[in-house]
Amino acid sequence: METVVSGIRSTGNLHLGNYYGAVQNFVKMQNEYNCYFFIADLHSLTTHPTPANLHSNVKQVLVEYLAAGIDPEKATIYVQSDVPEVTELYLYLNMNAYMGELERATSFKDKVRANPDNVNAGLLTYPVLMAADIIIHKATKVPVGKDQEQHLEMARTFGNRFNRLYNHDYFPEPYAFTFGESLVKIPGLDGAGKMGKSEGEGNAIFLSDTPEAIRKKVMRAKTDSGPTEENQTKPQEIQNLFDLMKVVSTPDTLAHFDNLYNTCAIRYGDLKKQLAEDMIIATAPIREKINDIANDAPLLRQVARYGAAKARESASKTIREVRELIGFRKF
Ligand code: TRP
Repeated sequence: METVVSGIRSTGNLHLGNYYGAVQNFVKMQNEYNCYFFIADLHSLTTHPTPANLHSNVKQVLVEYLAAGIDPEKATIYVQSDVPEVTELYLYLNMNAYMGELERATSFKDKVRANPDNVNAGLLTYPVLMAADIIIHKATKVPVGKDQEQHLEMARTFGNRFNRLYNHDYFPEPYAFTFGESLVKIPGLDGAGKMGKSEGEGNAIFLSDTPEAIRKKVMRAKTDSGPTEENQTKPQEIQNLFDLMKVVSTPDTLAHFDNLYNTCAIRYGDLKKQLAEDMIIATAPIREKINDIANDAPLLRQVARYGAAKARESASKTIREVRELIGFRKF
């Protein structure tokens, strides 16, 4: 059975981008692959969470993984920092990752631009830690959103470089994977790029948002003054709303509003109302489970311990072999 690894950084609640870009695929994959789904709390340290926030953020992702339908009996669910073997592999891979290529990574450049006063080394080597996450279980499939393609390419580079350096065909190549045709892009509500937590208040719809909060955010989404010519190309902010609709609404609903747009008869208020209601329906089954699971401390403890033990079994085997290949010998 092929091995699948994916993780989400614990920097707050999961949003629709996390769900449709990643978690929904996790749930489908758990029946057919040897899956490891983890909570990337070490990655979250680049932005210096307080100790209290660190833990509650990890808990939120764990709760939402379970609420979304990841089954701890089928997939290995674990917290990244519970598996110290990952950080050991990260160190080895760092010896073989070059400044130039790390500085060229798009995500690094974006973060430098956004936070010029927090350009720490952890941010620079973020793709190395991500590569360690993946290849520690010798995964070949990585369900992630489109924005992670470059990181996967780097993971292949680091794994291959290790293989070449130690003259061993050890790590297989991981590739981005999705059940659908192409990697989905979930835009945010601010009219610009992808949905994200760091993109500003109101840009992201969270799985834990109440129906009222969803309605409020969607009604405030950026729009223009409306089409003036038949069949004109949609500006980015309008295309974004249609892209979201494509994910949560029926094809008929989408076609209906597309037609209204193309005939210049659209009223954005109606489009947004429909979009909000469809988002509420789409997320209801998850939202309804979140509170119960969050209050079930024994369940969360059991899932985290069981997952950590299974993940460490796989990771420690790799680390034993990697140490051997590098040349560490016991006296
Ligand atoms: N970089 C990913 C993100 O921001 C999170 C992540 C960390 C990840 N390690 C991973 C995803 C390993 C897949 C596999 O979404």
